Amino acid sequence: MRLHLLAILLLAILLEACSSSTSKDRRLHSPDGKLALAFTLMEGVPHYSLAYADSTLIQPSRLGFELRGAADLFGGFEMLDSSSSTHESSWDLPWGEWDSVHDHHNEMYIKLREKAGLHREMHLQFRAFNDGVAFRYHLPGKDSIFILEENTGFRFAGNYMSWSIPPDHDTYEHLYRRLPLDSLEGGNTPLTLQAHDNVHLSIHEAALIDYPEMALVRDSAQPWTLRAHLAPWPDGDRVKAKLPLSTPWRTIQVSPTAGKLLESTMILNLNEPSKIADLSWIQPSKYIGIWWGMHLGKNTWSQGPKHGATTDETARYIRFADSAGVPAVLVEGWNTGWERWGQVDAWDYVTPYSDFDLPYLANLAQEKHVQLVGHHETGGDVLGYEKMLDSAFAQCARLGMRVVKTGYAGKIKPEGHVHHNQWMVRHYQRVVEIAAKHKVMVDAHEPIKDTGLRRTWPNFMTREGVRGMEWNAWSAGNPPSHTCILPFTRMLSGPLDYTPGIFVNTYEPWKDGYQLASTRARQLAYMVILYSPLQMAADLVEHYEGQPEWDFIRRVPCDWDEVRSQNETIGEHAVVARRAGEDWWVGAITDAHARLVPIQTDFLSGETEWVAEIWADMPNSSWYKDYGKTLHRSFGLQAGETIPATMAGCGGMAVHLRKAQPGEVAGLPHVSKLRENDDATLESFRAFRIHGQTVKAAHEGQNAVLSVQDSASSKYMKGDVKVLQDGLFAGMFPQEQGWLGFEGKDLVATLRLPKAVELKNIVVGFLRNHGSAIFLPKALEFSVSTDGEEWTVMDAWDNVQYQDRWQEGPKVFHYVASPLRGFQGEFAFVRVKAKAVGNAPAWHWHKGKPAWLFVNEIAVNPAPGTWLENRLCNPRYCPQDADGELGYQK
Ligand code: NOJ
Ligand code: CA
Repeated sequence: MRLHLLAILLLAILLEACSSSTSKDRRLHSPDGKLALAFTLMEGVPHYSLAYADSTLIQPSRLGFELRGAADLFGGFEMLDSSSSTHESSWDLPWGEWDSVHDHHNEMYIKLREKAGLHREMHLQFRAFNDGVAFRYHLPGKDSIFILEENTGFRFAGNYMSWSIPPDHDTYEHLYRRLPLDSLEGGNTPLTLQAHDNVHLSIHEAALIDYPEMALVRDSAQPWTLRAHLAPWPDGDRVKAKLPLSTPWRTIQVSPTAGKLLESTMILNLNEPSKIADLSWIQPSKYIGIWWGMHLGKNTWSQGPKHGATTDETARYIRFADSAGVPAVLVEGWNTGWERWGQVDAWDYVTPYSDFDLPYLANLAQEKHVQLVGHHETGGDVLGYEKMLDSAFAQCARLGMRVVKTGYAGKIKPEGHVHHNQWMVRHYQRVVEIAAKHKVMVDAHEPIKDTGLRRTWPNFMTREGVRGMEWNAWSAGNPPSHTCILPFTRMLSGPLDYTPGIFVNTYEPWKDGYQLASTRARQLAYMVILYSPLQMAADLVEHYEGQPEWDFIRRVPCDWDEVRSQNETIGEHAVVARRAGEDWWVGAITDAHARLVPIQTDFLSGETEWVAEIWADMPNSSWYKDYGKTLHRSFGLQAGETIPATMAGCGGMAVHLRKAQPGEVAGLPHVSKLRENDDATLESFRAFRIHGQTVKAAHEGQNAVLSVQDSASSKYMKGDVKVLQDGLFAGMFPQEQGWLGFEGKDLVATLRLPKAVELKNIVVGFLRNHGSAIFLPKALEFSVSTDGEEWTVMDAWDNVQYQDRWQEGPKVFHYVASPLRGFQGEFAFVRVKAKAVGNAPAWHWHKGKPAWLFVNEIAVNPAPGTWLENRLCNPRYCPQDADGELGYQK
């Protein structure tokens, strides 16, 4: 069989070589023939293009460099030589999403040389796998080189929909935007695109070593085109190197569905094998920690009356870990320096605070077979950390601490550097190598993105590089769609330390007015979906004590053999199934909307009968009522049958599947009986809303009839979204489904209430985000009427603030129209007119093109005492009116 395959491949290569000698183009196919990459010199400028199943995905796109102190390496090339080869092998992962990985690719190596001048050479190495293509540059020579920009382009063949965070070289802690390419000013990678219904792409990089990260920005010279945007040194150079130089791989993963992108192993295949010979000390594990308390404000990192990392508290965590079956405890705030945050040389990475007895605790941990996880927060002071790197890791090794969490929260010092430039990439690498020397594993926060280097350095276990759980403690929070997007974007780069597992979602008595938009079942689902080989159960241990759901956390693996995702869409829900040994574990989550997602168990093999142990949202519960009550039961099923995941808005479901014992399934209810009645359960979930809505409020509840003149652009609408009347106050992202987008057009919306009411106010939300060409309206008018014919203006703005210049600040504006003086009466009709800016002004990059207007819910608040008053609301999601009073409280 193997021989047969080899013969075919050799033949294919021969044919390829023959055809290439007669044409200027060079072609490379994936082993299955579906992906076709073409290389061509267009008037001396190198270009590549890509097709999938005979349809073009990427049109001829440029390759090259802008240099400082030398002519650009960009054009005037001739082809010196080209060669092809093929490769097939398998290799084992010490830990990860797979137990072993198959590497089957075809390669094409092209040597170019400048026809005139310096006759410099530039080589391009292309690889085509079944799951994508990749290429990198090799620059031979022996001089120094200073790269000002890499000109790698991605000229997509259509106005594809994209999901990405902004192209920020300093942090990845952003929310994802869902934008068509013609509205995208840039993004960081992994950047995911949907080309057609059944073609998804992810642009990223592999093996990022001694080079800056590649973000992407719009190339306005051509439509739907992005180009590389490397992170700079303080002096503006992007790369300072000595030739020969090999760049990281530029990767384009292609798959039919969003879910299939998760199965791609191409990034790992493009990295070098492990440089660590003895891997026995590298082991995945779950961990708890002295952590959430600081983010809630219960504790402090610095020593003082609320110090978290005291000897007693740490001992309590170690004892809990021992009794609850979780093998590691992170301690933040153990070392001196937190009171000097922001200063140079603030931290001492070996000296504990006086109320933290390190030798005693290290001993206690060893006695209980629990690992202490070290913590090195640098605040961005890299030189201060480098001075102590070796001694700090040596101390960890001496005390039996096998994992260290690092942190770079704050601006990088020395000033002018950014987190993701070449200088920092070198630093992150140095840390991992020194850690390896001392047999310590690393979990980096505020890191450089993962590019598969964990294959080469398997002690680089996991990292943050995401807007993680902590944001729910001290910001407006992460919208529930965020974690429905992460598996298909951020997670394509590798493991993420999101720190899930928050069981108690209110923060009293430490913080008022905050609530995590999540049920407990969703937190369990995260343990499967958000993969990390060091997986934190992030809540305070007192919140785990005596809770039946802890059993799931104790049992769920954090090292896997296989992964599957059935997702066809991104952002509405996510279903991820992972295998460990013979068992499968599945996590399912939804966005703000209650949903029934059928989980297809086509990953289960054969005729076997299976037992599904399920943790699900309790009917009649929501993220703010009985969110911690979890339905926990076992069911029987046959391989291939469907599990109906009925989830509350912001909810989820976790499943453990194991092969049934003989006769076992007969004694269990069938999985289709998970709910007495799926429709009724879904109805009970739909009664709750995320953004502060009730059972019977806002327009849906009021049965108001809404008509919108000048229909919104359909490209911003999804499914049967009923924005403007769904009772949801949207967040700032179109993918939250609460926004209606107008391109240059005015909005006129009329609401007919089923009965006349006396009004307290009308609230309308608009988005302003100049970076995405989204403007506030130029003028606004609110009118009311008793009969829909004669209208009275209730409130109006001629000049809406912030519209005319670039300004940072809040992105969502809620306009609250209150009755004008002397205004009285009951009204059954409400009308909102918003005059759009029209075209973007001259100072704006989008100048002359339609300025977008995004509007969400129009909420009508009746005067106190009227029939609509009975509302439920989480204050966090309610807009404040002018008096600071909540528009939607009961
Ligand atoms: C930010 C990290 O993401 C978080 O986990 C940590 O607690 C703080 N920095 C303090 O180091
Ligand atoms: Ca962080």
